[in-house]
Amino acid sequence: MDQLLITGGRPLKGAVKVSGAKNATLPAMAATVLTEGRHIIRNVPLLRDVKTMDRLLVHMGMDVRFENSTMIITNRGVRNFEAPYDLVKTMRASILVLGPMIARYGRARVSLPGGCAIGARPVNLHLMGLEKMGARIELNQGYIEARASRLHGADIYFDIPTVTGTENLMMAASLAKGVTRIENAAREPEVVDLAEALNNMGARIYGAGESIINIEGVDELNPLNHTVIPDRIETGTFIVAAAITGGEIEILNARAEHLEAVITKLEETGVACDTSARGLRAYKRSPIQARDLKTMPYPGFPTDMQAQFMALMCLAEGTSVIRETIFENRFMHVAELKRMGADITIEGSIATVKGVKALKGAPVMATDLRASASLVLAGLAAEGETLVDRIYHLDRGYERLDDKLKTLGARIERIKR
Ligand code: EPU
Repeated sequence: MDQLLITGGRPLKGAVKVSGAKNATLPAMAATVLTEGRHIIRNVPLLRDVKTMDRLLVHMGMDVRFENSTMIITNRGVRNFEAPYDLVKTMRASILVLGPMIARYGRARVSLPGGCAIGARPVNLHLMGLEKMGARIELNQGYIEARASRLHGADIYFDIPTVTGTENLMMAASLAKGVTRIENAAREPEVVDLAEALNNMGARIYGAGESIINIEGVDELNPLNHTVIPDRIETGTFIVAAAITGGEIEILNARAEHLEAVITKLEETGVACDTSARGLRAYKRSPIQARDLKTMPYPGFPTDMQAQFMALMCLAEGTSVIRETIFENRFMHVAELKRMGADITIEGSIATVKGVKALKGAPVMATDLRASASLVLAGLAAEGETLVDRIYHLDRGYERLDDKLKTLGARIERIKR
């Protein structure tokens, strides 16, 4: 398991290009199950999760080629309708093949994801929606077994907006007979990106990005030809990197409109995020002030940026109260940040962070993707050396983060083990 050795204290300076969004790439890859032919996806980041989805599609009988950020997926007809436990347990987003498989082939057997490091993360809303569209679903020996003749349109209400749930149902409804209406749908930019990709395939999806999405089913779709949006969470991570090290980073390809809540909150703390011709320019405008935070579904502040924001608050002037409302166990980075000298207490879903003058390097362990990013950020700002263990979590969702940070002047080494 690789580790990262970071020697902190250097302001990061320069320009860096943000990669394609992980959470837009994975549903686009799943959408290739919806129709046979040669699909093209551009701006695909080279990540462990993308490789896992690649393995899943190959397991199902597809041919996947990936070169220079372009992925070509050839679907000559799915031969294997199972998403096995071994793949699903390493990546929950594997559930995204469920809707397309049922809609296109009338059958699917997908392992139930189970819990994960950040919470229980059930998929009941995905299943409820598919059942309303006519799928017969049974849970058998840890697997979701689904059958359907042609799915039909339905009125679906989510009591919690779910990102992959909305995506799964949008894909399934695209090939259903009649109109599907999803109420309290997730509004994330990745949902909008998938809707655009599907509409380019010939789907008729209206309202993606709003709480109510209407989908008129069609009989068949064309192959995908899509360029995924830049990763807004990677962008946010670089903004914090500029601020926490007192440097200045121009983030190329950044889309400020996908990060309004993040930028607004960071600006309140003293970070500048100016739009530039090529993206965003981020730097510390004034000493960082503590601000409270509550994670919310989009357009609120994303849970995927909570850990990185907390790293910044560790070094802010004052006390910040951070409330995590999306996942019940997403404070795993707290114990590790405390090992670096942070002053944080947790009560249920609330973390109270008292800013300290300095963090000190320490050996720490990554526990999930965004927690890893927060430890890297803390290490970049800390005095001395930080050794981040288990960085395979980081490699799941950040493309060559260590190399990118190095080009900005960070002292960071990957130790291969
Ligand atoms: N939920 C249910 N039932 C369901 C589905 C969700 O109760 O059937 C609950 C979840 O337990 C959670 C809330 O609804 O409390 C929202 O979860 P959501 O379904 O939106 O999460 P997800 O689709 O599994 C995606 C991202 C996550 C990101 C969340 C929230 C992908 C592949 N994953 O997960 O990304 O944190 O939305 O924005 O899109 C990451 O990239 O690090 C990551 C974890």
